[in-house]
Amino acid sequence: MNHVLVLEGSPRKGNTSTVVDWVLAGMGRGNKVTRVRLGELHIEPCQECFTCAGTKKAAGCAQEDDMVELYDKMIDADLVIWASPIFCWNVTGQTKMALDRCFALLTGEDLLKGSKWALVITAGGDAFDGADLAVQMFSRLARYGGIKYVGQHVVAPCPDGAKLAASAVLKKSAKGFGKELAKALRA
Ligand SMILES: Cc1cc2nc3c(=O)[nH]c(=O)nc-3n(C[C@H](O)[C@H](O)[C@H](O)COP(=O)(O)O)c2cc1C
Repeated sequence: MNHVLVLEGSPRKGNTSTVVDWVLAGMGRGNKVTRVRLGELHIEPCQECFTCAGTKKAAGCAQEDDMVELYDKMIDADLVIWASPIFCWNVTGQTKMALDRCFALLTGEDLLKGSKWALVITAGGDAFDGADLAVQMFSRLARYGGIKYVGQHVVAPCPDGAKLAASAVLKKSAKGFGKELAKALRA
């Protein structure tokens, strides 16, 4: 059974969560899915102490907050789906803090090497109102860490709340992305 870890970076259970629900539905059953709301965890920003750089076989981060458990979950996952709305042309602060802390997994023996990452983004504006930058950031970080970046699902412009929930077209395309992820997991 594949383990799918979803890291949700919105401060609310809003548009991005709705899209994640659809993507997961598209993936079908048969995976162990863990959804984590990053804003509910205690995650401090990276302190740039480079303690992690001296540790080879573990994350080795000097900070003992909720990232410790998340590191293990990320290493264990067959697929990590990062899900974030765009705030000011990038992912949310909640998402970025966790992402920066992933540096600790890349300084030793590339603990994420071979794992798969995907991205789900919603944005109020169009794809050039920040979604494009977020996609670049994730795909470059994945390349840097030897992670297989399996693609992104961007909803931009994303209707808000009930309007999004009522969109059969957006639901269908999100489920289609879920099917692609299921295929990528089997590959
Ligand atoms: C503080 C803040 C900043 C935002 N900045 C952008 C932005 O730069 N570009 C954009 O397209 N949408 C922006 N938006 C709109 C959100 O990305 C959009 O409404 C998103 O679907 C919200 O997702 P959520 O309900 O999962 O939080 C912003 C929203 C907020 C609250």
